Amino acid sequence: MTAPALPVQAPVPGPAPKPAAGKVVLEVEDLRVHYLTRFGAKIQAVDGVTFSLKQGEILGIAGESGCGKTTLVSGCMGLYIPPLYHTSGDVRIDGQSIVGMTPEQNRKEVLGRKIAMIPQGALNSLNPTRKIKDMATDMILSHDESADKKTINDRLRERFSRIGLDAQKVLNSYPVELPAGTKQRCVIGISTLLNPKVVVADEPTSALDVSTQKSVIRLLFELMNQEIISSMLFITHELPLLRHVSSSIAVMYAGEFVEYGSTEQVIFDGRQPYSRALMGSMLSTEPGQKSRKPVAIEGAPPKLDKPIPGCRFAERCPVAQPDCRSTDQVLRVVGGRQVRCKYADTDLVKQVGGTV
Ligand SMILES: Nc1ncnc2c1ncn2[C@@H]1O[C@H](COP(=O)(O)OP(=O)(O)OP(=O)(O)O)[C@@H](O)[C@H]1O
Ligand SMILES: [Mg+2]
Repeated sequence: MTAPALPVQAPVPGPAPKPAAGKVVLEVEDLRVHYLTRFGAKIQAVDGVTFSLKQGEILGIAGESGCGKTTLVSGCMGLYIPPLYHTSGDVRIDGQSIVGMTPEQNRKEVLGRKIAMIPQGALNSLNPTRKIKDMATDMILSHDESADKKTINDRLRERFSRIGLDAQKVLNSYPVELPAGTKQRCVIGISTLLNPKVVVADEPTSALDVSTQKSVIRLLFELMNQEIISSMLFITHELPLLRHVSSSIAVMYAGEFVEYGSTEQVIFDGRQPYSRALMGSMLSTEPGQKSRKPVAIEGAPPKLDKPIPGCRFAERCPVAQPDCRSTDQVLRVVGGRQVRCKYADTDLVKQVGGTV
C-alpha cells in the first residue's frame, strides 16, 4: 500500500511519508473489547476487528463519536483499565502478542518503545505544574529504566530542536507559557521520544485551528520521514481529512469495521452507505472546489449493550432494504476493499451521501 500523494494545492503540505515497505508491525486479529458497567451491563465497544499495519503505513480510522475508536486504540496498546476488559482476539506488535501481559510488563516492554499514543485532548494531557523537561524526563525513565540520566538533557535538546522547537526555551517552560501549537508539538515530541514503531494519534488535530492542524500533520509526516516513527494509526471523526493524511482507511461503526481499503477507494468510491454518509456529512474544504452542503446523518449510533440483529447501520441507512434489519452483515471483498453491506456492489449505495 502506498503513502498518499499530496495534490499540488493540498491543504496539508507534504512531504508525505515514503511508501509502506511491507513488513507488518501491528497485527490485530478478531479483537473484542468490552466495558462492564456498574449495573453489570456488558458494552461490546469493539466487536471483532481485524487489520494489520505495515512499516511506513498510515491507517486512518474514522467514525462518529461513540463508535469505538478510542476503545480500539486501548485494545491495540493493551491498556485495560477497569471497566475496560479484553473479551477475545489477539494483538501482536513486531510479532509479539501483548494480550495477557501484566500492566507492568506492558509498560516496560511495549508502551513508549513499540507503540505510543498521542492522546485525545492532548493539550490537556500536560501537567500544568511541571516544566516540559521534567515531563519528558519522566517519560523516558518510566519506560526505560536503563536510560543514562546524565545524557537525558542532551537527548531532549537534540530531539526538541529536531522537531522545530526552540529547545532551551521550551524545555524550561510550563505548559501555560506556551501557545497551543507549541504545546501540541511538545506532546508529540514527548510521546515519540523512544522512537516507537507504531504511533497512535487519537484525534490529534480536533481542538486546533486549521493552520495548527496543518503543522501538526506536517510534524507527524516529518517524524515518519526521519524514521523516528515507522507507522501510524490516525484516528479522526473527519473522514475527508484522511484524504491528505493516510494511505489506507477503516471506517468504524458500532464497534465494527464497515469498510476497510485504500484511501482512494474509501474516499472517492465508498461502497458502504455509512462511509458515504460520513463523507457527505462533512464540509468539503478542497481548494478550488465548490463547497457542497453537508447532509447530517439522521439519528444516533445504536446502543452496544445487547446484540444488534442485521446490519447495525440499517436503522439510519437511507437506502436500507427490508432484509437489512434481519440479515447479519459480514465483511467481504467488493471492488478491492473489505465492506460490510449486502448491497455494496449495487447502484443503491451510490444514492447515499457523496465523495470529495
Ligand atoms: N467507561 C465506560 N463505561 C461504559 N461504556 C463506555 C465507557 N467508555 C466508553 N464507553 C462506550 O463505549 C463506546 C465506544 O466509546 P469510544 O470512546 O471508544 O468511542 P470513540 O469512537 O472514541 O468516540 P469519540 O469520537 O467521542 O472519541 C461508546 O458506546 C461509549 O459510550
Ligand atoms: Mg475517542
